[in-house]
Amino acid sequence: MGLMSEKTIGIIGAGAMGEALATGIVRAGLVRPADLYISDVRQERLDGLRTRLGVTPLADNKQLVSVSRVVILAVKPPVVAPVLDEIAPALTSAHTLISIAAGITLAFIEERLPPGVPVVRVMPNTPCLVGAGASAFALGRYAQTEDARRAREILEAVGMAVEVPEEHLDIVTGLSGSGPAYAYLVIEALSDGAVRLGLPRQLAIRLAAQTLYGAAKMILSSEEHPARLKDAVTTPGGTTAAGLFALEEAGVRAAFARAVEQATRRAMELSK
Ligand SMILES: NC(=O)c1ccc[n+]([C@@H]2O[C@H](COP(=O)([O-])OP(=O)(O)OC[C@H]3O[C@@H](n4cnc5c(N)ncnc54)[C@H](OP(=O)(O)O)[C@@H]3O)[C@@H](O)[C@H]2O)c1
Repeated sequence: MGLMSEKTIGIIGAGAMGEALATGIVRAGLVRPADLYISDVRQERLDGLRTRLGVTPLADNKQLVSVSRVVILAVKPPVVAPVLDEIAPALTSAHTLISIAAGITLAFIEERLPPGVPVVRVMPNTPCLVGAGASAFALGRYAQTEDARRAREILEAVGMAVEVPEEHLDIVTGLSGSGPAYAYLVIEALSDGAVRLGLPRQLAIRLAAQTLYGAAKMILSSEEHPARLKDAVTTPGGTTAAGLFALEEAGVRAAFARAVEQATRRAMELSK
């Protein structure tokens, strides 16, 4: 097992997501900062992370694997195959390999590794960058409860995490992976509506964003069905009922259902 101890994590790829995960892991105290290893082809990113977080940069991916119990693959999808070929000889059944690369399947990863290496495939989203991510993960054929626990612990350091079967990950991509963009569009559209009526732009955007944030928090803290919460704020003959009717008339429900469907289809095409 060499230098590898229970409490070591390695991240390959110190880009936007790699940095978000490193920050969450250090803040949550999952490992001592020095026991979090990061590798990247860009030295300046490694230097920045060492200064900001106190993590240990390594220039060599294979060396990172040899000292880390959990290895997070956070490089862009086209780089996954060459990196797997590079690190495969160092991976063992004692590791947990967590891949966040969009569209890269468990089978694609597992066939490039020695048999027995536990793999977890994750679909995160960009709010991980502010600690409010929504991630779903699926377990590979050799992954056990302990691997799921490690993955969950890391993903919960940057938001919430749920386990799903792999065949649901494309739908998750269409829902929460692409979802922040749908929410940005809704916030922009709501604020456009208010600007049209005379509200200053910055104010309108802040009020719209806080309203979505607040509504989401109501659902997550109460676990109430959204329809119940909607009914509770819809006075008969009132303002909200009038606004909701306009949304129904425009077919907004079907439009969102189509958005999730189209994004899911695209995710399926891309992961072929
Ligand atoms: N960003 C998101 O919202 C999001 C959401 C879901 C999933 N993901 C997945 O997360 C992964 C990372 O995304 P990202 O946005 O963080 O990408 P990114 O910012 O480009 O970060 C990847 C980092 O890995 C480096 N790298 C390239 N080749 C390498 C190698 N052989 N060894 C080590 N490091 C290497 C890159 O350097 P160069 O820049 O020089 O190539 C870059 O610094 C992707 O697979 C993506 O599909 C991202």
